[in-house]
Amino acid sequence: MTQDELKKLAAESALAYIKRDMTVGIGTGSTVNHFIAALVRMKHDIGMTVASSIQTEQQLKQHGIEFTALNNVGTVDIYIDGADEANTHHYLIKGLGGALTREKVIASAAKQFICIIDQSKKVDVLGNLSPVPVEVIPMARSYVAREIVKMGADPVYREGIQTDNGNQILDVHNLKITDPVIMEKMLNNIPGVVENGIFAKRPADVIIMATPEGIRTI
Ligand code: A5P
Repeated sequence: MTQDELKKLAAESALAYIKRDMTVGIGTGSTVNHFIAALVRMKHDIGMTVASSIQTEQQLKQHGIEFTALNNVGTVDIYIDGADEANTHHYLIKGLGGALTREKVIASAAKQFICIIDQSKKVDVLGNLSPVPVEVIPMARSYVAREIVKMGADPVYREGIQTDNGNQILDVHNLKITDPVIMEKMLNNIPGVVENGIFAKRPADVIIMATPEGIRTI
């Protein structure tokens, strides 16, 4: 199976968690795009959706699925999203698609967070495959980068990208993430940081991982 077929398998398996009248938070990325395509079958049964990015809003529109702002619903029953890395503690790195801040807000507001991945995203130690994306307000970018260098890591400015919130992204390589909960806090304590892509304070509740042998639920 190709990686895209595995993403589709994970995405379609998440449909089993969607119940009648639920408010469904929708993440961002290629795995989630498969989920949106599958959700069309249930679009008249669910209550409402909340999108984590403009890209996802566009996908929902294309599929005729209604969405609203998080402010209008307050909470979501279930949040479905992919990840760039996931470990067995359900901690994640997210944000290679640049939508980490809205993703983390909706995940935090959700009663249940289901993460859908193909097996290539599974790691023992976070940071092995992916840099940690950090969203910064534009005027703080080089200050934040210098603070991150003091932590022994290598921030790289993601040039030409503006987030949906009008901010910029530093991709932080070679960060030693021995304790994801502490590292998530440390990065967010740097003035000018809006949010970072470590999801440890609000980990996934369930990880649906697609492998060539079938679905593994972690
Ligand atoms: C978007 O900002 C990310 O957090 C995505 O959820 C993550 O990059 C996974 O993307 P794919 O499903 O495209 O691999």
